[in-house]
Amino acid sequence: MKILITGGAGFIGSNFIFYERKMHPTYELVCVDKLTYAGSMETLESLLGDSKFRFCRADITDRQEIEKIFTTESPDVVVNFAAESHVDRSIENPSVFLETNTIGTQVLLDACCRHGVRRFHQVSTDEVYGDLPLDRPELMFTEQTPLHTSSPYSASKAAADLLCNAYYRTYKLPVTISRCSNNYGPYQFPEKLIPLMISRALKDQPLPVYGQGLNVRDWLYVEDHCAAIDRILEAGEPGRVYNVGGHNEMRNIDIVKRILEVLGKPENLITYVEDRKGHDRRYAIDPTRIHKELGWLPSVRFEDGIRGTVRWYLDHRAWWEHIESGAYQQMNERLSAAVC
Ligand SMILES: NC(=O)c1ccc[n+]([C@@H]2O[C@H](COP(=O)([O-])OP(=O)(O)OC[C@H]3O[C@@H](n4cnc5c(N)ncnc54)[C@H](O)[C@@H]3O)[C@@H](O)[C@H]2O)c1
Repeated sequence: MKILITGGAGFIGSNFIFYERKMHPTYELVCVDKLTYAGSMETLESLLGDSKFRFCRADITDRQEIEKIFTTESPDVVVNFAAESHVDRSIENPSVFLETNTIGTQVLLDACCRHGVRRFHQVSTDEVYGDLPLDRPELMFTEQTPLHTSSPYSASKAAADLLCNAYYRTYKLPVTISRCSNNYGPYQFPEKLIPLMISRALKDQPLPVYGQGLNVRDWLYVEDHCAAIDRILEAGEPGRVYNVGGHNEMRNIDIVKRILEVLGKPENLITYVEDRKGHDRRYAIDPTRIHKELGWLPSVRFEDGIRGTVRWYLDHRAWWEHIESGAYQQMNERLSAAVC
């Protein structure tokens, strides 16, 4: 079995590579990543000598490069994590989101049709459903909830999901889609809420919280997301969407306060800043389908996951400090030149 994993130098993709390496040591894994600002080769450095792992630096929107990689590698399965993933950046510059998240997905779908694969799995997001009101806790996103996006990021991901469905219906490409809630855990780029708050608190810097911090997200430990994708690859039905979530809704302000508590830092580090434009109020995933049909359930309780995550950022200070200083970009050049 050979799996081609796009975006594997990013947060969830790299965790997925480590998960597959652990659970299926005989699988060959090929990582395709452009190494944008969000990719770090330092994350994958420990795998570079592994004979069952290959890294190819390539842009998923580059048809020729992708064609070359498919011709050389002939993957059995493709899992597409590659994306521009930060909502704030999509508000500043939507174009690159449409290029990578939408057109890039279409380039991969075309390559899969030409070369034939057992499965194309699209890693999507709960953000394609839009948001829910704060005062209706009984409402949750199911796979039947209409797509109703708010940001250029979520719109570009929803467009990709629709293309995946179209390729399944039109070309019979065996496609599955997972729509997951917010992830947290090791190797998350320090611009995202949890690592940003941890790194700033460790330096006793102010912690910027949008609005009053009342927006609610459903948090899932990243390895549980990886396990869900692995399960979908094994037993998921082509043409089907699977919601993935942990029934773990929390307000942003409560997450930030919990991090401060774990680190033993004072709450007066919190600074409230002007809210994000079009900020989604609440996301809540109903993961009944993946539980009933595929037997997946999250295994990490938030309390354990957040403690482990804070511990990881304390123990891997060099990893995120290299990102903050920009040193990781030289490492990206050096380490990718050696393998591509
Ligand atoms: N982080 C979350 O909470 C979350 C939740 C649900 C779904 N998702 C989805 O999971 C996927 C991975 O998210 P993440 O948080 O790991 O993102 P990330 O930003 O940490 O990583 C993205 C990776 O994709 C690579 N990449 C970007 N553009 C590329 C291109 N054109 N060609 C090749 N590689 C490219 C980057 O270099 C980086 O390594 C995304 O598709 C995202 O929409 C994320």
